[in-house]
Amino acid sequence: MIITIVGGGSTFTPGIVTSIALRQKELGVTEVRLFDNDEERQSKVGVVVDWILKDMKSPIKLTVTTDKETAYKDAKFIFAQMRVGKYAMREQDEKISLRHGVVGQETCGPGGMAYGLRTIFPMIEVIDDVEKYAAKDHWILNYSNPAAIVAIACHKLRPNARIINICDMPIAILEMIGKCVGIEDYESIDVDYFGLNHFGWFTRMEYQGRDIVKEIREYCKETGIMLPKMHIEAIKKHMGTGDRHANQSWIKVWTNVCKLMEMNSEYVPNTYMTYYMFPKENVEHSDPNYTRANEVMDTREKTLFEGVDRYLATGEIDKKVFYAGAHGNFIADLAVALLGKCDRKFIVIEPNNGKVPNLPDDVMIELPAVVGVNGPVQDNFGPIKTFYKGMIEQQNACEQLLVEGAIEGSYEKVLHAFALNKTVPSIQVAKEILDEMMEANKDYWPELK
Ligand code: NAD
Ligand code: G6P
Ligand code: MN
Repeated sequence: MIITIVGGGSTFTPGIVTSIALRQKELGVTEVRLFDNDEERQSKVGVVVDWILKDMKSPIKLTVTTDKETAYKDAKFIFAQMRVGKYAMREQDEKISLRHGVVGQETCGPGGMAYGLRTIFPMIEVIDDVEKYAAKDHWILNYSNPAAIVAIACHKLRPNARIINICDMPIAILEMIGKCVGIEDYESIDVDYFGLNHFGWFTRMEYQGRDIVKEIREYCKETGIMLPKMHIEAIKKHMGTGDRHANQSWIKVWTNVCKLMEMNSEYVPNTYMTYYMFPKENVEHSDPNYTRANEVMDTREKTLFEGVDRYLATGEIDKKVFYAGAHGNFIADLAVALLGKCDRKFIVIEPNNGKVPNLPDDVMIELPAVVGVNGPVQDNFGPIKTFYKGMIEQQNACEQLLVEGAIEGSYEKVLHAFALNKTVPSIQVAKEILDEMMEANKDYWPELK
């Protein structure tokens, strides 16, 4: 049984492979293949992955390749996590937006839309290559961002693809909340959730008879931040915690989510809602010359690749050079569930088709799902209230129009998509950002006329 990781050179690959190796028996996995179009980057990550498998005394064979057929032949699972344009383009996405006074973020606002225009067609290429070479009953589990836009494009262009689009933010939020209120097995928190990707709300969280929505609301009121006490202490002392969520950009997000809860008394918003609800404050607290891309390059990426170089020079490795945890566990557990061996629910992104009856069928909705060998079956959520419906309809229109614009090569549709985004104040600003981004992305975007 073969699992192929697309974007094998990703900073998250070591963690994902750790999670796979920990579940080797349940998955019945015999081989992990890394596939990337950046040979040099991937071969370095491959060194760490090889070390991890040996350290865990894992029987899993490792193959590192840039050849599609070698990558996909007979694979059962394809875990996709490409960053098209890499951190260099993420930096552009964030900085161009900020230069125009607009939120500069990886998946939200104009940055997310630029990233979407880069990723749609490479993702379709992955689907087609996988279809050609992989096992007939394969599953593509896709983390490649922006997952909301990618999900729409895949559904429009390859409606029968065996792809499940996923995000680790809901589970990461539960992990963080678990740490705040003293729950270790955060995966057992029973939830209701609805939204688009990076645009949703928890409506219920229960754990052994405890109302966790109420508890986290009280915790936020007391501390002003949805981070556990150990992080708060470390932040006060200007110390790192080793957790990326304690970096400056994320501190802002975990603080704003508490502010947002004060104004949204019934649900717990996904942290990404803060970009849409506090765009002005977010811009004011961003450094246009040092964005999240810079933070990531200076922390997660640097630590990993320096760790590889040190290992190659000295034969010694520190496990802290890579992150392993909820992100890898989520995708590996989802694969276990698709083999019919895990009863837990998973929040995934699928076509709505009436589950939220007052939203259109083709909305790519994020909801909890029961997952078995035939794929995910999302819960029927029921109708949503006017505020959330209005928010989702606007964001969905923006993302659908962006995908239509990409497929048709229509400048005007893409412009209207930019103008529809809640982070963008006017169509004039939308146009200025779009024109600058079009120039910066000329090697990546489809031609827009
Ligand atoms: P990274 O840049 O370290 O890794 C991405 C890798 O993708 C790079 O090695 C790059 O060479 C490769 N790549 C780019 N285009 C490719 C192509 N066409 N074919 C094959 N490989 C290609 O980035 P990262 O920070 O580790 O993140 C990896 C991806 O995972 C990003 O898309 C990120 O947004 C996504 N991500 C998603 C979630 C989620 O919740 N959905 C969570 C974390 C990360
Ligand atoms: C969360 C989100 C991902 C996003 C990531 C960014 O995990 O769910 O979709 O890619 O954060 O994290 P970073 O550390 O790269 O800013
Ligand atoms: Mn995500």
